Amino acid sequence: MTTSDPILTLDNVTVQFGGVRAVRNVNFSLQKGELVGLIGPNGAGKTTIFNLITGSIAPSEGQIFFNGKSIKGKRVDELCHWGISRTFQNIRLFPQMTVFENVALGLHSRPHYSVFEAFIRTPRALKAEKELAHQVLDLLKMVGLQDYVKQKAGILPYGLQRRLEIARAMATHPELLLLDEPAAGMNEDECHELIQMIRNIHESKQYSIILIEHHMNVVMELCRDSRIMVLNLGEVLAVGSPAEIQSDAKVLSAYLGSKRGRNGK
Ligand SMILES: Nc1ncnc2c1ncn2[C@@H]1O[C@H](COP(=O)(O)OP(=O)(O)O)[C@@H](O)[C@H]1O
Ligand SMILES: [Mg+2]
Repeated sequence: MTTSDPILTLDNVTVQFGGVRAVRNVNFSLQKGELVGLIGPNGAGKTTIFNLITGSIAPSEGQIFFNGKSIKGKRVDELCHWGISRTFQNIRLFPQMTVFENVALGLHSRPHYSVFEAFIRTPRALKAEKELAHQVLDLLKMVGLQDYVKQKAGILPYGLQRRLEIARAMATHPELLLLDEPAAGMNEDECHELIQMIRNIHESKQYSIILIEHHMNVVMELCRDSRIMVLNLGEVLAVGSPAEIQSDAKVLSAYLGSKRGRNGK
């Protein structure tokens, strides 16, 4: 399902935060339809790469291209409109709103009727509302949350909140979906379900996906037919198949040398 056209290119990208070089001379291309894993010890620069691609920070050096166009100077909302969407390592839902409303917000960013029409509930507004509800339910079904439509997002178990974040990210009709540690805090069974879910989303929506993940079984399984990029101290340490990455001496020593407490993997 991949083609030879890159959807995303990072050309010699560096990010300097004061004295810290969080990302160093990163070169990387993602092909259309590809699902690539991004791993590395805590502080390696993974989330910073997502912040760069979504326009929430700008590179100190280098350039980023989305579908061949430079993203330089583009705001987060503009890039969202271009088709770039993400989830957050620290969940960012609206806890007091329902599951339905959290997803509807993403779809509502482009209503095709006026506030006045919505107020007096014209047939056009009613039809649009029905269509919106249909789309929200479709997305909630894809992440297995169809039975939680009216629940407040804030009281959902953690694993389900992570799934809701994915549905919300999908509501903006992205071409490129960036998932920042979607399995964080999940147990083995939940990880297994998440793998199936992400695989299904990738195949049916044909998104290009970058997956940051610490659960090694999740990354290795989802990237079994593609590539994984390993970052360490802001630098690309290795890019390769799961088997290549698992036997790479530099990768092994970066992981063994880092004192990461999380997941123990
Ligand atoms: N907005 C920021 N300001 C200053 N330093 C930052 C900022 N964001 C990240 N960093 C630093 O950049 C490095 C990489 O962080 P991050 O990209 O979050 O790593 P990862 O997601 O791989 O754990 C860390 O040293 C972190 O403290
Ligand atoms: Mg991170």
